[in-house]
Amino acid sequence: MGWKTLDDMDLHGKRVLVRVDINVPVEKGRVTDDTRIQRIVPTVQDILAKGGRPVLLAHFGRPKGKRVQDLSLLVVKPALEAALNRKVVLAETLEAVETGTEEITKADVLLLENIRFYPGEEKNDPGFAQRLAALGDVYCNDAFSAAHRAHASTEALARLLPCCAGRLMQAELSALEAALSKPERPVGAVVGGAKVSTKIELLENLVNRLDLLVIGGGMANTFLGAMGADLGSSLSEPDFFETAKDIMLQADKAGCRVLLPVDGLVAREFKAAAPHEVVELGPDTTLAADQMVLDAGPATVALVEAAFAGLKTLIWNGPMGAFEIPPFDTATVAAAQAAAQMTRDGALISVAGGGDTVSALNQAGAAEDFTYISTAGGAFLEWMEGKTLPGVAALGG
Ligand code: 3PG
Repeated sequence: MGWKTLDDMDLHGKRVLVRVDINVPVEKGRVTDDTRIQRIVPTVQDILAKGGRPVLLAHFGRPKGKRVQDLSLLVVKPALEAALNRKVVLAETLEAVETGTEEITKADVLLLENIRFYPGEEKNDPGFAQRLAALGDVYCNDAFSAAHRAHASTEALARLLPCCAGRLMQAELSALEAALSKPERPVGAVVGGAKVSTKIELLENLVNRLDLLVIGGGMANTFLGAMGADLGSSLSEPDFFETAKDIMLQADKAGCRVLLPVDGLVAREFKAAAPHEVVELGPDTTLAADQMVLDAGPATVALVEAAFAGLKTLIWNGPMGAFEIPPFDTATVAAAQAAAQMTRDGALISVAGGGDTVSALNQAGAAEDFTYISTAGGAFLEWMEGKTLPGVAALGG
């Protein structure tokens, strides 16, 4: 942890450029989940309390260097003002901040319009970063969930101004370090989701670091297929059978137990409430051509719960079945509730993040009991792959 925090900085009378991630889901012009906005509140409040003036830098969607009106941060501003309980001034252009209208100069909290409207942002352009740096005295990065991007506002800027991590960045890094870099052992993970192909590096890194790896979701079918099972029309990637075998071999060598489903809920249609049966799964399983595994079964859940009981730390990424179409959320819900209960009992440190994970744990009613829920999607995955995140490295971490 080579980086500084807000506690190390003199912010009195200073303009603090704060990279935040308020890339939140929006439907019909309204924010539908303000978690990421709520999580940056402590940083903004602390800067204000120390006499600093926050200038928030944020992206929204992927406008690819052009001004796209639908991707204006205007839609996020009301939710941000509600969370901060104060007025936020949106500066529509960099020029407006550079020339400094009265409203902008006097603003307590300034929000710069979508930073990805500028082509220099994603190019990590030094000239663009210089322009940003000229707007402030101190740089604070509070966007762990964008730290896997080497962009001007996440990377180059940190090299141009005195810099520090914000409170959310601090919390994310501490929780993730505690879970994977220096975990209390035994440490295990649940990795679910559709495809092995998108998580090869992650699986390879994990089997070399963990004591237990529970593989769920569609990717478990690829592992079972590699062992010889014929799983009908289940989601599977035969092109990755060799990769799956190699990961099993690596796990074996590294002493990581891999737990694959021993049974599953099998249906003939991918839809909610589709008629289904419990089928034993293993190398010899042969399903009919129109059958598909949509969730892990009760024997698997019992094995997973028993395996959790031996752990001190658990990392969770991805659902164990087609959790968006009940009842194929059953295994995810049951296993998540077991982890939540152990956490409540003080027996487990549980950390979750990435993609669909948070909505799956919310659906299970388990999210609140987990020790830490990351706000990050792609950044969480890259961190689990063992990669150095450029936004963290630039802070000196
Ligand atoms: C996210 O939503 O995961 C972050 O805001 C990063 O967004 P990006 O994938 O468009 O860089």
